[in-house]
Amino acid sequence: MSTPSLLILAGDGIGPEVMTEVRKIIDWFGAKRDLAFDVSEDLVGGAAYDVHGVPLADETMAKAQEVDAVLLGAVGGPKYDDLDFSVKPERGLLRLRKEMDLYSNLRPAQCFDALADFSSLKKDVVAGLDIMIVRELTSGIYFGEPRGISVNASGEREGVNTQRYTESEIARVARSAFELAKRRGNKVCSMEKANVMESGILWREIVQKVHDEEYPDVELSHMYADAGGMQLCRWPKQFDVIVTDNLFGDLLSDVAAMLTGSLGMLPSASLGAPMENGRPKALYEPVHGSAPDIAGQGKANPIACILSFAMALRYSFDQGAEADRLEKAVEKVLADGLRTADLMGPEGGSPVSTSAMGDAIVAALDASL
Ligand code: NAD
Ligand code: IPM
Ligand code: MN
Repeated sequence: MSTPSLLILAGDGIGPEVMTEVRKIIDWFGAKRDLAFDVSEDLVGGAAYDVHGVPLADETMAKAQEVDAVLLGAVGGPKYDDLDFSVKPERGLLRLRKEMDLYSNLRPAQCFDALADFSSLKKDVVAGLDIMIVRELTSGIYFGEPRGISVNASGEREGVNTQRYTESEIARVARSAFELAKRRGNKVCSMEKANVMESGILWREIVQKVHDEEYPDVELSHMYADAGGMQLCRWPKQFDVIVTDNLFGDLLSDVAAMLTGSLGMLPSASLGAPMENGRPKALYEPVHGSAPDIAGQGKANPIACILSFAMALRYSFDQGAEADRLEKAVEKVLADGLRTADLMGPEGGSPVSTSAMGDAIVAALDASL
């Protein structure tokens, strides 16, 4: 088999900082596990805008379509706040998701034992938590037309976005959730607002139909997304797989992040249809953003990005055992008490730097041999 290819788009803010640590991990797998990757790097977000005047150059888009997997850091930042909407850093990421047709965004929220005390929720609410949010990623209100800001008939400006879902868009992400559930706790909860939105009515109907026709053995429930947010905080362990739309999934996954202790802990995989080689089109990225408040200070937690690479090992490269090895290394480092600043309680302590956390995870990988 040829060497698998990986395109790294580190992006802005803490993106390059956390990606430096992921490179150490990638190099370790090449040196110690004979798992080499053909790694290339390119620009996305504000970094791409600074050079090309657009947040994603066409050549970079073409490369992303070619490689076995893309690994992205984060995009955005105050420097770019006043740019025209069409060239904002976030548009680069949205273009990647849309043109690669990455419709299924897997956002696992796992609470490591060592952090159970640290969550803002009570320990027994989060200890042992392991849920998977499947967020639809290429449709809904993020992409629906009509959209824009225009002057209406009474001369007033109005902002418009449109929530729009087709039956096939709902069915394919539902399948992805049911497939995952079969390999986990066999339970799916679908979240929408069928009480107030027609798109929610269709969502509920199609998820139920896919269930009844193709996955009758998986337990399915439906919940309004607002109640879902409340239940995620009340008793998150009632869930196994949650499937929801693009916007609700964005919100609910940030909520889920706090169950694990920090936004700096949450990885994600965005998957599309299989390519010719059988691998899904794929982009891996942490759930967090560019964290302008801590960028450039060596404070960022690299674990979300490192765990995103573990997801790449599992979902793109068929290396489940090596993904487990990496996740265990992260677990060990946390159990040993290492914490970046985001994992410190209000009473403080002595946090380690981004690079010290990366080095410790490499050392734990070494110890795993
Ligand atoms: P953010 O996720 O960047 O930061 C929210 C808070 O979490 C901040 O206090 C930050 O310091 C902290 N945080 C986030 N990641 C962390 C990490 N790895 N280690 C330690 N602390 C961490 O969200 P925001 O402040 O709302 O957005 C900032 C910029 O990032 C915006 O331009 C936004 O559009 C962009 N953004 C990008 C992505 C992405 O690239 N996928 C995701 C979310 C936000
Ligand atoms: C995320 C981010 C993105 C989103 C932005 C940066 C486009 O918040 O990946 O969660 O809204 O999807
Ligand atoms: Mn988000």
